[in-house]
Amino acid sequence: MEKLKIVGGTKLRGNVRISGAKNAAVAIIPAVLMVDGVCVIENVPHIKDVLVIADILSDLGAKVKWLQDDVLEIDATTVNNYIATDDKVRSMRASYYLLGALLGRFHMATVRLPGGCNFGERPIDQHIKSFEALRASVNIDYDIVIAKSEKRLKATHIYLDVVSVGATINAMLAACMAEGTTIIENVAKEPHVVDLANFLNTMGASVRGAGTDTIRIRGVEKLHGGTYSIIPDQIEAGTFMIAAAAAGGDVLVENIIPQHMDSLSAKLSESGAIVTEFEDSIRVESNGMLKGVNVKTRPYPGFPTDLQPQMVTLLSAARGKSMVTEGVWESRFQYIEELKRMGADIVIADNRAIIHGVDRLRGATVKATDLRAGACLAIAGIIAEGTTYILDLKHIDRGYQNFEEKLTSLGANVVRIDE
Ligand code: EPU
Repeated sequence: MEKLKIVGGTKLRGNVRISGAKNAAVAIIPAVLMVDGVCVIENVPHIKDVLVIADILSDLGAKVKWLQDDVLEIDATTVNNYIATDDKVRSMRASYYLLGALLGRFHMATVRLPGGCNFGERPIDQHIKSFEALRASVNIDYDIVIAKSEKRLKATHIYLDVVSVGATINAMLAACMAEGTTIIENVAKEPHVVDLANFLNTMGASVRGAGTDTIRIRGVEKLHGGTYSIIPDQIEAGTFMIAAAAAGGDVLVENIIPQHMDSLSAKLSESGAIVTEFEDSIRVESNGMLKGVNVKTRPYPGFPTDLQPQMVTLLSAARGKSMVTEGVWESRFQYIEELKRMGADIVIADNRAIIHGVDRLRGATVKATDLRAGACLAIAGIIAEGTTYILDLKHIDRGYQNFEEKLTSLGANVVRIDE
């Protein structure tokens, strides 16, 4: 069993280069299923979720080849299979994008329901509502979704009842090759939604308005091949910014879009770190003596829920009281039991964490309960006194490329051990 061993108490110094965005990659790779021709995708993060989704495309009949460590070539022209029910499909949340992409291409899709991180209930009613509005019939047989239409999907007007990244992306995919112009309102505005729209447009689609509340998609008959470079990962960047602020030190987080980090930069500054923006990097300087702040997670441009556990960790060793409200997921505080084993003083009341900052966290053996929980425990290990062991690394490996190598290059004492 692999574990991360972290000896705490080091400051972080130096430069760290951020990889391509996981949540853009896991949408763009399935989108290639709709393309007639060869797609070369650059700045692809080499992480488990990407390897799995690329493998699923390969199983469906696409030709998938890594040209370099971060460049993927996919030719899905000859794919003639719209059934993805393998166990691999269950292993990751984003495999539900196969539904939108296969529906777009074949107006038929049979896909097993997805797994991924467990934050309580993760409904897909808004995805289904969108497919049905585009005139597909949708049936769920145990854990398999069967969506189909006799003919090409038909454009429509969709109003999403909740702001959902997944439903926005799936509706966009399915509408791309539908007949007529689809309007989707109350959509998610996350950077990866915009990145998928840019990818689709590069391949000949007509998607307008991504990044605003309303997206308009004029359906086209065909998408063509091309080359596209994925945006940097907002959440990986944020994880390193928080680690630098919490541990103290001076870190330049490179290859990012600073505007994507605005809500986090503001909170780190409020808590006492010095955050300086450059064209494609952000410097975080801190003496590690931060003060408590209140945070509420929200869809973009609000504070990202995917940085909530890392921020709670920072606040658990900051001066005074903080309140962190989870505004996206019904249940995303499972990792707090682990932080408490390290000495954090946190009380959960409904969807709020009330944190009384302690002088020092203490090393302990803890479990990564999900991807971002794993990242937060690594930060906790770095700022704690003594040695921390993190178990269940599979979660971290799903979404962070060379995580411990990047932390080590900044001076953290982190090693992966296999026992
Ligand atoms: N929701 C519904 N009905 C739906 C879909 C969503 O009620 O049909 C609700 C959810 O229950 C939740 C809210 O809407 O309360 C937002 O969910 P969303 O659909 O936006 O989440 P998602 O698409 O399943 C993506 C990311 C998550 C990230 C959320 C929120 C991917 C692959 N996953 O999930 O990322 O937390 O958006 O930003 O893009 C991560 O990377 O660690 C991660 C979990």
